Amino acid sequence: MIARLIFFFSILLCLPVSAQDCGRQSFNDGWTFRLGDDGVQRNVRIPHDWAVEGDFNKDNPSGTGGGALPGGIGWYEKHFFVDKGERGKAVRITFDGVYMNSTVWINGQELGTRPYGYISFTYDLTPYLRYGKDNVVVVKVDNSDQPNSRWYSGCGIYRNVWLTKTNAIHVAENGTYVTTTMRKGADGKAVAADVNIAVDIVNPQGRPVKVRNIIRNADKQTVAQSEGTTNSAGGMALTANISNAQLWSVASPYLYTVVTQLLDADGKLLDEYNTRFGVRDVQFTTEGCFLNGEHIQIQGVCNHHDLGCLGAAVNRRGIERQLELLKAAGFNGIRCSHNPPAPELLELCDEMGFLVMDEAFDMWRRKKTAGDYARFFNQWHERDLADFVRRDRNHPSVCIWSIGNEVLEQWSDAKADTLTLEEANLILNFGHAIEDDKTSGDQLSVNSLLCRKLANFVRALDPTRPITAGCNEPNKNNHLFKPVDALDIIGYNYHNQNIHDVKKNFPGRPFIITESNSSLMTRGYYRQNSDSMYVWPERWDKPFYDETFSCSSYENCHVPWGNTNIETLNLMRRYPWICGQFVWTGFDYIGEPTPYGWPARSSYFGIIDLAGFPKDVYWLYKSRLTQEPVLHLFPHWNFGNETYAGKDIVASKMSKDGYVDVWAYYNQADTVELYLNGKPMDAAAVLPHDASLMCWRVKYEPGELLAVAKRNGRVVSSASVSTAGEPAAIRLTPDRRVITADGVDLSFVTVEVVDKEGRLCPNASNLIHFDVTGAAFIAGVDNGSPISLERFKDNKRKAFYGKCLLVIQNNGNAGKVTITATGDNLSAATTEVICQ
Ligand code: GAL
Repeated sequence: MIARLIFFFSILLCLPVSAQDCGRQSFNDGWTFRLGDDGVQRNVRIPHDWAVEGDFNKDNPSGTGGGALPGGIGWYEKHFFVDKGERGKAVRITFDGVYMNSTVWINGQELGTRPYGYISFTYDLTPYLRYGKDNVVVVKVDNSDQPNSRWYSGCGIYRNVWLTKTNAIHVAENGTYVTTTMRKGADGKAVAADVNIAVDIVNPQGRPVKVRNIIRNADKQTVAQSEGTTNSAGGMALTANISNAQLWSVASPYLYTVVTQLLDADGKLLDEYNTRFGVRDVQFTTEGCFLNGEHIQIQGVCNHHDLGCLGAAVNRRGIERQLELLKAAGFNGIRCSHNPPAPELLELCDEMGFLVMDEAFDMWRRKKTAGDYARFFNQWHERDLADFVRRDRNHPSVCIWSIGNEVLEQWSDAKADTLTLEEANLILNFGHAIEDDKTSGDQLSVNSLLCRKLANFVRALDPTRPITAGCNEPNKNNHLFKPVDALDIIGYNYHNQNIHDVKKNFPGRPFIITESNSSLMTRGYYRQNSDSMYVWPERWDKPFYDETFSCSSYENCHVPWGNTNIETLNLMRRYPWICGQFVWTGFDYIGEPTPYGWPARSSYFGIIDLAGFPKDVYWLYKSRLTQEPVLHLFPHWNFGNETYAGKDIVASKMSKDGYVDVWAYYNQADTVELYLNGKPMDAAAVLPHDASLMCWRVKYEPGELLAVAKRNGRVVSSASVSTAGEPAAIRLTPDRRVITADGVDLSFVTVEVVDKEGRLCPNASNLIHFDVTGAAFIAGVDNGSPISLERFKDNKRKAFYGKCLLVIQNNGNAGKVTITATGDNLSAATTEVICQ
């Protein structure tokens, strides 16, 4: 009876997260932190990023490319008690990610060093534990050798930490591998799925173990089961069959869970391990991408891992909010550029329906920055690749492995070793001479062989997914493309002009745009005329300067290697055989402020800014990629004398002769009419015109702009903007008014400066102070400006083009949170959030 109860209880306790042992618990609490050898020791919350707590400084060795935030060496320490009754159990610690060069000790015993800052790793603590006593884990994090990244990396134990206590006989960490084969009925539709579950078992004495796999559907009902016995330490593979299988897709991301139980000869439960999976079939072909037999183009974005003012410190809700915003614009893909992501990202992509290109490295043997992973590659790449693939291969969302981004091994002659970080960021796309093919017949260069080796290594761990690399040499002599048995999908970044020749140059090989556009935009800033293209920087080797430190939010600014968003969307529409694209980037990120240098310190590439406020181009995607009606009219209507422009804002100007270009992104209509103060305006012939975009060149006068979208002569929607008055008040809008009292959940509060009629003041830059009382604290503040040198961890922020962001985090208590915002000459605002 007791055994039964324990068994039942353990099933109830086990959380259905992607793949984990039921004996796993969060190990985030109770850590102390010390910066440098003489820093002051203080309590910290893990996930923790010490760099984002710091000040921007142009002399920080990370450079503006790395976000101009501090690096250094940090020490973490945690004490924990191990009960005498735990003797005989296996105990392991898992770090989802530590940036970088971490060394871990338990009770003074060194467990190892992991250089790669994006890899998840586990140490067995069992032999070193003190039972009935205090135990101590110490982690040294060394991010002092900078620059070592082309973007902001963060510093510290920036992802979750787990402690797993199991029976000595247990499923290994990441020890299940679930693959599915769909069986189709006479009509070609999937009717059943064979689920193969390979289980890796730690069984030191090789005792006989019964392995039982119970498959549960999303309602937790058992739909299939398989059982077998083994006494080998290596584990076993079993197949179970689900009839009437529900398929996973981006529109309907249905998930099953395999509960793997290990039992001894008497039927006693030894260990239990959950693995979430989906039944889906993704094919990449020369005719395009097919998900469950249906043609689909991946419309994805690349993202880096930081969460704006939260820095690199992982927060599930922070990622979920990003994905919600992207999903709402119709995106269905994510590229984890250019490193293994936090596990939470993949869990959310499984749940929300995104197709993921999961990427291992930004460099192989050849470095891009002085201190980067290239110095560890030879020794560590196999281990890191294995840990990466074993961790991620059960996620239904993961559909492509990428073994690298723009690695310099594409060429023989890349001389990147002496570049500064800023140069490295800029040079990569300007091409390198692709020398004549000096190899002949079956002979391959060392770089081609390395590419094949890495691809085969990944394939051996997961033969079910195709492999690609984000290349920036589209020539077929690219060393990575030459071995036809290495990369399954030809993938390159940018070079839209070469895409027409893909079928000729790479016969029989599927193609995907691994990275596109790199268009540059500052939310809220517009440069006339909108039909002038700003291709910035002009040359990578010349410093670029423009006094505005801003990029225009009409689609008229991009890097020389890039394109406008609309161009790539049109290209994909023209060639359905393009499997997909990943736009650079979904969100702005800290670091890489191309085309600018200091004081710019975060990127301009995002469709959504660093604070999470969409730029105008967001609605272009929404109009193209969703079925929802869109009519988005811009810019704002506060021109002339830079009406009420705050002093920290570069106000957009009208043209010399007093005109302002007005754009509307729209769908589900065949025309849009524009009225200024009631007068109809003529659509502009000189401006880019496209289905989904209408433009007008309007002689500016204050008042109201009204856009009316019509289909077959009937009005389908309307939108307006009008000239705002002087800043008068603050408006607070939390994205969620009820959050979980778990000490981690967040509410993102949009803060707007409005006039007395409640209209957004589009040029306001008022300083806003925040007071937060009750069950939450301030997790960060931001406004999306790439050039603000204000701190992310503060209780105040200037508005940027009328808006800023306050992020509050529950403090572990249930109850009410009261948020008050004040600013000089503005009526204060108060709002409440409930934590429960
Ligand atoms: C690409 C690179 C990205 C980013 C981007 C900026 O070449 O893969 O990491 O640097 O350019 O345009």
